Amino acid sequence: MAPGSYIKIADEYKSFTLDHFCVPKHYEEDLEDIMIPWGLIQDRIERLARDIFQSVKDQPLTAVCILKGGYRFFTDLLDKLTALNRAHGHVSVPITIDFIRLKSYENDASSGEIRIVGGDSLSSIAGRNILVVEDIIDTGRTMIKLLELLAEHKPASVKVASLLVKRRAGQGVTFRPDYCGFEIPDKFVVGYALDYNEYFRDLNHICVINNAGKEKYRQTAT
Ligand code: HPA
Ligand code: MG
Repeated sequence: MAPGSYIKIADEYKSFTLDHFCVPKHYEEDLEDIMIPWGLIQDRIERLARDIFQSVKDQPLTAVCILKGGYRFFTDLLDKLTALNRAHGHVSVPITIDFIRLKSYENDASSGEIRIVGGDSLSSIAGRNILVVEDIIDTGRTMIKLLELLAEHKPASVKVASLLVKRRAGQGVTFRPDYCGFEIPDKFVVGYALDYNEYFRDLNHICVINNAGKEKYRQTAT
């Protein structure tokens, strides 16, 4: 799949209202609307899994989950990849998994700081074909930094799958992953493991947070 052929959610896109879907009661007051319902996320991941499967073919793959935000996308993508492995008698992709934790955000603004928490098993990626699985690419800085770090450990190849890529106001898309679920407008989204100060990971749909939600869950300096 050529980078660039993304599903674009336009700036004018009319998101779904909350009252047409189920959201947890504890978040009802905190969300503007639903940008990508859970079912649509699943359908898109099914296709990403097929694209990945077809381009990897019989080579072993190490899928690296970027915690915490990537965990739902990671498990759903892996489920769909392993289903393809079961379904295709003649080709299969042996998969190993790894987890890395990065931290770069406080409230809804990039602090400019990226911390790598964990990742001590990185030496094992030498000579492997790596698939980095991320929830969202926003400024692109985190991914660029991570790719530099991975390159130091001499993997055979590195590809990036990101469920979302943000079209930043005045900048557009800053980093184009090899596999992308949806290109979204410049709005702060939560749900499907994407958080705002650790809240909203327990929400299935990808939603736009409202001002009340930002205020309610704002990180206060301690
Ligand atoms: N939502 C959650 N986490 C994020 C976002 C976002 O829009 N952008 C970068 N990290
Ligand atoms: Mg992330």
